[in-house]
Amino acid sequence: MIKLDIAKQIINNNWRDGFTVPTNRLYPFQWMWDSGFVALGTSTYNIKMALSEIEKMFSGQWDNGMLPHILFHSEKEKSYFPNYDFWNSRVNDGAPMRPKSSGITQPAVYGFVLREILKNHWGNDDVKAFVKHIFPKVVKYHQFLYNYRDPYKEGIFFIFHPWESGRDNSPIWDEPFSHIQIEQESIPDYRRRDTSIANAEERPTKEQYDKYVYLLELGKKYKYDGKEIAAESPFLIQDNMMNAILIKSNQSLIEIAGDLDLDAGQITEWQALSTSNFDSKFWNDDLETYVGYDLRNQKQMRHKEIGGLVPMFAGLPDKDKATKLNNYLKSLSERGYYLCPSFDVDSPLFDSRRYWRGPIWPQMNWMIHIGLKENGFIDTAGIVKNDLITLINKLGFYEYFEARKDVVKDQTKGYGGSDFSWTASTYIHLNSME
Ligand code: GLC
Repeated sequence: MIKLDIAKQIINNNWRDGFTVPTNRLYPFQWMWDSGFVALGTSTYNIKMALSEIEKMFSGQWDNGMLPHILFHSEKEKSYFPNYDFWNSRVNDGAPMRPKSSGITQPAVYGFVLREILKNHWGNDDVKAFVKHIFPKVVKYHQFLYNYRDPYKEGIFFIFHPWESGRDNSPIWDEPFSHIQIEQESIPDYRRRDTSIANAEERPTKEQYDKYVYLLELGKKYKYDGKEIAAESPFLIQDNMMNAILIKSNQSLIEIAGDLDLDAGQITEWQALSTSNFDSKFWNDDLETYVGYDLRNQKQMRHKEIGGLVPMFAGLPDKDKATKLNNYLKSLSERGYYLCPSFDVDSPLFDSRRYWRGPIWPQMNWMIHIGLKENGFIDTAGIVKNDLITLINKLGFYEYFEARKDVVKDQTKGYGGSDFSWTASTYIHLNSME
């Protein structure tokens, strides 16, 4: 029972002027890493849509190289908070007049997205020309991360807002958030929109939201420029997953450069530094997983969570570490969980319904599936792929899904937004692969 037609219809319905919105009501603009995953899916059946999606994303790139996490292509749409006027990206001179944007970024997916598309369209000269045209823009984006977000020149960049990580309200942020003290007067009045569209039980809490707004204001105060933010932000994290994705994309750019005869000198230097520091910074031997690093408080963030599995996708762990990650997933599957829950199911912080605190996310399964496959764990890779397809077939194209098999048995719907673009596109892409 493969529902490719429904998946394509969802993407068509979410298609605006040359790009997709993640879902119709909850997220009415273009999101950075969502668009990368959508382009992967559309590239398997309509390459024009895929290239247009990417082109649109890069139309919002700042002069300093940053790719914003949201592009507000439509200024009439008022149903989202924080809207473009709240972000006020124009405090930074290099932010384009149009499209208006947020002032933070998201995972650096475009290197590996371009690589995958080029590989599958090798005979198409238009695709080659397009990749050549976007390549320097992706390099410029990576340069932004290395120049503005890596104050100690470790080849590891920081984020100053949890929304940058893509895992907005993961329990990994609870501890660093507990050090942030805010006075209510220090944040402007605001009204959330998400809780009137989606179930509040499945969304972040008010206290968390106040801190999100506080960090946004801090970014704005410094024109969203990484250098001053590094000195002042109480939330300064080197995220294991984002750095792994950057490394994966660097590698992809180096491969593209080899194929298309482009210069990869600078990227190769970044890559050498980043890979040499990755394991010592992020591997945790007690937990047998990769964890994040709290740069402000100078310590590892000791949790088992979904981001810890992504370094496999970038080829970072050696055989021993990769085996530990694979064993962990295998044991979860044997214990009655669909793969891959976004947080440690044995932790008191696990919440199987709430956003990044437990549920399964489609694009994560895509990266982890490939990571397992590339590390030779074919069986577990198959489970990660099949579990996601099973959940989508049973529960629909939702934003995220319950992980406990005994609970899913009686469910008819997933969680969060429905008719979700990257759920549809990862479904299409996974079904197009062997
Ligand atoms: C949520 C997710 C984020 C995603 C966005 C749009 O904020 O946490 O990863 O990019 O929704 O789908």
